[in-house]
Amino acid sequence: MLYPAYSKEPVAKYWMGRMGGGTALVIEARQEAGEPVFLALARAIIAEIERGRLKPGDPLPGTRALAKSLELNRNTVDAAYHELLMQGWLVAEPSRGTFVARDLPDFGSKRQSPVTSAGQGGSPPRFGPATLNLSDGAPDPRLAPTVPLAQALRRALASPAFMAGGGYGDPRGDPLLREALAGYLKDERGLALGPDDILVTRGSQMALFLAAAALARPGAVIAVESPGYSFAWAAFRAAGVRLVGVPVDDGGIDVAALERLAASEPHLHAVYVTPHHQYPTTVTLGAARRLRLLEVARRHRLTIIEDDYDHEYRFDGRPVLPLAARAAEDICVVHLGSLSKLIAPGIRIGYAVAPPTLLRRMADRREALDRQGDLPLERALGELILDGTLKRHARKARRIYQLRRDNAALLLTQHFSTVADFTLPAGGLAIWLRLKAGLSAESWAMNATHLGLSVLPGLRFTLDAARPPEAFRLGFASLDEAELARAIALLKQAGP
Ligand SMILES: Cc1ncc(COP(=O)(O)O)c(C=O)c1O
Repeated sequence: MLYPAYSKEPVAKYWMGRMGGGTALVIEARQEAGEPVFLALARAIIAEIERGRLKPGDPLPGTRALAKSLELNRNTVDAAYHELLMQGWLVAEPSRGTFVARDLPDFGSKRQSPVTSAGQGGSPPRFGPATLNLSDGAPDPRLAPTVPLAQALRRALASPAFMAGGGYGDPRGDPLLREALAGYLKDERGLALGPDDILVTRGSQMALFLAAAALARPGAVIAVESPGYSFAWAAFRAAGVRLVGVPVDDGGIDVAALERLAASEPHLHAVYVTPHHQYPTTVTLGAARRLRLLEVARRHRLTIIEDDYDHEYRFDGRPVLPLAARAAEDICVVHLGSLSKLIAPGIRIGYAVAPPTLLRRMADRREALDRQGDLPLERALGELILDGTLKRHARKARRIYQLRRDNAALLLTQHFSTVADFTLPAGGLAIWLRLKAGLSAESWAMNATHLGLSVLPGLRFTLDAARPPEAFRLGFASLDEAELARAIALLKQAGP
């Protein structure tokens, strides 16, 4: 018998086929108002474990079978299992399936009543670090495709390309990765390019430095968004460039202000922008400002350094095509990307796409710093792009992060609506929470640190320390549901 799953009724019942035992287990799940379905399903499975009806080591049905019997999308069941794997309630055993974690207490044999909060007797250990970090929009490395990456790395280390020399190759990066990236960027970002238009770098941080170094002349100025990305500022300064801040409002960088600056500053060579999801405010630069920005760049011969660091994470609507895809030939755009958000910041792979002369200058400087990149890692990632692993990972991560964004937005609305507000970001891995007048983000963040929560106040993102934005950039993607709930509770405790 099949009950309708998550109809408009707040309560839904399910059949859950139980593998191995041959018996059928009925799960009753209640979806709280506004709660994503996958979390409701995850809670229902936890409740069955706590009741002792699912015991340590019990097999769970495959996601396809469970989705079918529940009349749910398989992605929903996938996301529920994923949450439970990350929280330590379930374990996945390669080529065997998914099981209730064996290190949990057997709630059934001890006849314990259900416990739901951490720290109560018999509660399983919760996943997560002792100190919570709301980050600035980091991804969750626990979702990363580490198994295929390790396999691809092993193949790369055994490949003739490595074995027959393994030595110094092309300073622009492994040809296979550049070929793969060219196809990927064509499909995903509408960039018309070939492998020779790409320079692979150690993270986009290196590309920021190389771009500024290749552009720099004595006294050169780069305009940057303020508030903005301070690591880019550090890279530009290290390359000997002077910075001038351009204000950002709720439409993104103020292009009219940039135009005034370009008219009055003869040494202005370039402008650095994060148009897809402005860092830190998350705003997408609209079509009118994009066109005007391109026109200002053309008229004043400015190079646009476009940092598209989290392009893949667009939740509402389609990703916006980069400036690099729209720019005419007479406008110089250096388009930068990174695998730090797509996989994890520990994978130090970034890339730059630029016109040939500028790319050559950047490659020469890269060679002076580091003769070539990490050959096996680059080959392995090239393979994962070509065989579709990275795109599949992006799809899965996007789904999970969208649910986490919605959950974060719900919690922020519930707990902070009297002291702060925010605009739901259409994409990216953070929410910009603006505090009401009279509140100090800096002292709030300091209180949070004492409670074990790391959170970044507006001061971290401004060139104008005397007038920092009273706001937090809250990364929601690296924390699972339980961790995020704890982080928000601590943030509330630290607040006014
Ligand atoms: C604005 C911005 N650009 C680029 C990056 C990625 O830097 P990298 O590729 O050096 O890890 C980040 C990561 O946090 C970022 O926030």
